[in-house]
Amino acid sequence: MAFQERVFSGMQPTGSLHLGNYLGAMLQWIKLQETHECIYCVVDMHAITVWQDPDQLRSAIRQVTAAYIASGLDPKRSILFNQSEVSEHAELAWVFNCVARLGWLNRMTQFKEKAGKDRENASVGLYVYPDLMAADILAYQATHVPVGHDQKQHLELARDIAQKFNNDFGPWIEKAGYEDGIFFPQPEPVITGLAARVMSLRDGTKKMSKSESSELSRINLTDDADTIAKKIQKARTDPEALPSEEKGLEGRPEAENLVGIYAALLGKAKADVLKEFGGAQFSVFKKALAELCVTRLVPIAVEIEHLLADEGEIDRILADGAARARAIARPVINKVKDIVGFVRT
Ligand code: TRP
Repeated sequence: MAFQERVFSGMQPTGSLHLGNYLGAMLQWIKLQETHECIYCVVDMHAITVWQDPDQLRSAIRQVTAAYIASGLDPKRSILFNQSEVSEHAELAWVFNCVARLGWLNRMTQFKEKAGKDRENASVGLYVYPDLMAADILAYQATHVPVGHDQKQHLELARDIAQKFNNDFGPWIEKAGYEDGIFFPQPEPVITGLAARVMSLRDGTKKMSKSESSELSRINLTDDADTIAKKIQKARTDPEALPSEEKGLEGRPEAENLVGIYAALLGKAKADVLKEFGGAQFSVFKKALAELCVTRLVPIAVEIEHLLADEGEIDRILADGAARARAIARPVINKVKDIVGFVRT
């Protein structure tokens, strides 16, 4: 069976989104709206696999929602909702807990990293996190999943789960009316050229991250113009002028990062940026970069603030998204129940 192309992705509700999130993920999601039916989910159930302060979690869910809308995610065109409001995710995750094997989950590198040395004390939820992620995707029989590198292994697991489900239940899937015995698609990762890997402004070899202690290392989507300008002015560089060709960026991670940010904000190639700025000192380039960042990001910050001023409206948007998500997921889960042999009354 040919599956209708459908995009699904999820974002963790962490309050502070930064330029790395914007250029690395959000722009890509926004772009996909032009070509695909898109479902975007604030994964609050994934968030509680590690401790979350309840009041902070509540506000982070709304903040992330506002940030995505302010950046250009259109909640009418796409489906935008929070995971815990569509219980089909949890229902399917349970079935997948019974499809996935311990051995598969034991190989997940993110669990090992997040659990650290004190594995005995990690939550069970953190361990089965990838099963819930597979359920997120497959509850919509989604075919395309924009994800960063760190999530590729989880996506492979989702493919394995889809395949094992199809294999284990093949005859019953056919009985349910799927002649080829295939119920779940094999979801594929989407990596578009647009996505840029944005590095820390203090260290060009480390990813820009909300967990780095120095605020100067990242530009937050809620920063004001002065803060953005100051952070770029203080960004680490090397003493050389900018090269005029891309290969001149090799071994110069900070230069490469700043040029990459400039290029990504304009949707251009780094080579094009270097055509313009090759030979320029960083002082000149940083001015242009700060200006561009301010022009692009400040309107987003203003819009985030505007949206957050009316929580009721954000909640209505999320509720509308949840209703539309449920309308797709419910029939899928009902089929799953029939296929595995549950009685629906
Ligand atoms: N695990 C993803 C992350 O941390 C978020 C996520 C949850 C997700 N469910 C998903 C991403 C489904 C893609 C598809 O970034």
